Amino acid sequence: MNTISININLKKKQYKIYMERGILTSIGKKLRQAYEGRTLVVITDKNVERLYMKELKESFLDNGFKVNVISIEPGEKSKSLDMLKKIYENLCELKIKRKDVIVSLGGGVVGDLSGFAAATYLRGISYVQIPTSLLAQVDSSIGGKVAVDLPWGKNLVGNFYHPDAVFIDPEVLKTLSDRFFSDGMAEVIKYGFIKDKTILEDLNSYKSKEEALNNIENIIYKCCSIKKKLVEEDEKDLGNRMLLNFGHTLGHAVERYYNYSKYSHGEAVSIGMAYITGRTEELSITKEGTYSYMVNILKKYGLPVYIQGVDKNVLVDTIALDKKSSDKNEINLIMIEEAGKSKIRNTKLSEAANFLFPENLIK
Ligand code: GLY
Repeated sequence: MNTISININLKKKQYKIYMERGILTSIGKKLRQAYEGRTLVVITDKNVERLYMKELKESFLDNGFKVNVISIEPGEKSKSLDMLKKIYENLCELKIKRKDVIVSLGGGVVGDLSGFAAATYLRGISYVQIPTSLLAQVDSSIGGKVAVDLPWGKNLVGNFYHPDAVFIDPEVLKTLSDRFFSDGMAEVIKYGFIKDKTILEDLNSYKSKEEALNNIENIIYKCCSIKKKLVEEDEKDLGNRMLLNFGHTLGHAVERYYNYSKYSHGEAVSIGMAYITGRTEELSITKEGTYSYMVNILKKYGLPVYIQGVDKNVLVDTIALDKKSSDKNEINLIMIEEAGKSKIRNTKLSEAANFLFPENLIK
């Protein structure tokens, strides 16, 4: 199969997303020309290391690279300042120099953490992304957002720092558990609602996870193409790129509320998307029927659409800390007008709760 590529053209940097089934075993060859003679440090987690490190390492060694591996515990709790410090220590002990390269092999946690390490170690070294979860392949590996979490909230310390390339191997998704397939599907469904309802039509037409996986290149391509446009137009997330935050304001607060242990990112975003859309449909901002269309698709892909027994006031306090709220005590909320069409609404923080929790649609 041929490699599909998408160019990301930014003001100060261009890079490519390459997608091909089985590309994992030829990344060494693809990096050879650009990085000849440099040392590669692969940052991964213990699950992904067990599954894919051997073949990736062989591909690097076969192409003359020196390779080091830093492997972290899987899960959001690793996206911390403590873990970042350990990575810096490892990079120093390995005598990694400015010309060397970090290779991020894993899902969103590994990508955000290793991207932030690359952005800051020695004031910035090159890195490439090899996303291995659906969520990372369609969203977090592209666009340069790198970060770690603080006890006060997600991604509170970070930067925009783009990789030199992104390599997507859809074949690796076969080992994703059902739960983490659903996790990524939440972001795919997000793209459908904010920009492209054909994604939703595709998802509705698939009869099984297998059928969705057989067509996953098409889905990933559509999502990455939307992200490309939004990132090129608004690299620093001050305008239309914010549409990608649909469902994330409440979603991040839900993740934090349960200390990142009960709901995955995608599950929390699913709840966030359903809640705000339920409410905006009640307020006639959203076309009637959109909420039930959304809930059906989220449920079809195994995602939760409501939570019980949470203290709304705690969620609202967490939202006030969200970096998407400005110093004017306002927040940009993303709302769906109809499937495939979305808008940004600047809202006073004191009024945000009115848009986030449906009164009648969810009982
Ligand atoms: N994940 C949202 C963004 O990259 O802007």
